[in-house]
Amino acid sequence: MGSEIYVHQHEPIDTINPNVYGHFAEHLGRCIYGGLWVGEDDRVPTEDGVRMDTVELLADLEMPVLRWPGGCFADDYHWEDGIGPREERPTRRNAFWTQGRADIPEEPNEFGTEEFMRVCDLLDTEPYLAANVGNGSPGEAADWLEYCNYDGDTELANRRAENGSEDPHDVKFWGVGNENWGCGGRLSPEEYAEQFRRYATYLRSVDGMLSERDVDLVSVGHINEDWNRKFLDALDDCAEFVQGPYDLMDHMSVHRYYEAGGDTDFDDEEYFRLLARSRKVGGDVDDAVDALSTYAPESDISIIVDEWGVWHPEATNTNGLEQENTVRDAISAAGVFDDLHERADVVSMANIAQTVNVLQCLVQTDEEDAWATPTYQVFDLYENHAGGTALDTVIETDEHEVEDEPYDVPLVSASASAHGDEVFVTLSNRALESEDVTVSLEDKSASLVDSEVLFADNAVEEYSTKDNADEFTPDDVDVVANGDGTFAVAVPESAVVGLTFEA
Ligand code: AHR
Repeated sequence: MGSEIYVHQHEPIDTINPNVYGHFAEHLGRCIYGGLWVGEDDRVPTEDGVRMDTVELLADLEMPVLRWPGGCFADDYHWEDGIGPREERPTRRNAFWTQGRADIPEEPNEFGTEEFMRVCDLLDTEPYLAANVGNGSPGEAADWLEYCNYDGDTELANRRAENGSEDPHDVKFWGVGNENWGCGGRLSPEEYAEQFRRYATYLRSVDGMLSERDVDLVSVGHINEDWNRKFLDALDDCAEFVQGPYDLMDHMSVHRYYEAGGDTDFDDEEYFRLLARSRKVGGDVDDAVDALSTYAPESDISIIVDEWGVWHPEATNTNGLEQENTVRDAISAAGVFDDLHERADVVSMANIAQTVNVLQCLVQTDEEDAWATPTYQVFDLYENHAGGTALDTVIETDEHEVEDEPYDVPLVSASASAHGDEVFVTLSNRALESEDVTVSLEDKSASLVDSEVLFADNAVEEYSTKDNADEFTPDDVDVVANGDGTFAVAVPESAVVGLTFEA
């Protein structure tokens, strides 16, 4: 029978914010130390202590935004520990992520604000900082913003200059805590609403003094819709006396992790179950939007999914949350991007967890080498959507039913975006056999410009290592142009295709 994809070129959804292809890096396991930062270690090429083999791989992806320093770490991080001469910085415990792992020492604070900004410069990426709400203070958060962004003659701005950065860092995105309903203090929605108002008020007071760039504040949301509703309701508690608590917020965040079976050891049902669970990312966005439309209908607060990805049982707290990264994981990422494109009008950013070595990483390292994972390849292909206009896309395909899950798995997932005269279409065949797919464009004279396929020769449980990473790079794929705006592709089992049309 095959599957049909109809691309409605004249039904734009919205611009796909390039920040949807964002990343997240935490002081956790080997993400920062060993992955991005090696300091004096000369076994790999470095620039100012930053690991350049990792940077080169990530720079090829044109990473738009990088969130740091956590995660749970953010709500126990005191930013002043990480500035000034490195030899004078204090060593602290890493409350969340060093337990039980002897080879990860305490937090040495070698990598702090200036080192992070150096990484962002080398990657040409936008920094996104998460302030400490858990055991910090609004003053500490406001001081960090002043240190980073203020260009006047204050002690903090001068300290930044002494630390090597005369010019402000102009950090646009500021998270007000992280998972404050959990590791960030176990706050009730009402308690977090109170904290959010306090922090946002003081951050906004610095924001008002900045000559360059306004900041965007990101509140913590939850995948539990009730939590979001209670938080948004309580945020307005001060409305009798002061206006506009919703104006304090530019974005609300949600986090979604999913798993099924093991990282490499899973059966066919677990393969599909993981794909079904990955669909919750789109559902979480819809739930957050619903809550916002009830409590702040006039606002243009958008959704940031600032942690998402596969978290397998093998990634335990005792191994620095490392796991093998398979083709199955990468295929789930392709589906998540299709779902985010469909919601381009409400999603302003997404950050995969985490960029190097940890969870669904894009790059893995050892002491000598850095290499790309299959998920890296999906990012590389899909990033061609960034900045384009998402187009309404209708897919006719069979579904694989998954018991006891809120979602089944359409065998073909797809999305499309317009870029001037070009239309870019991505599609994944999640079936465990090849599938004939027809792509129809409205422009009957459309022609194919480029076509590639990922994972045509890889089984779903294959994962990348330093010796085989180039086996996951794209191949050519045959596409038959029917001459009437329709194109036929025989998509191999569990593979992802990218098609560029002139239309
Ligand atoms: O990414 C690992 C952890 O997952 C983060 O620190 C936390 O925010 C989430 O629970």
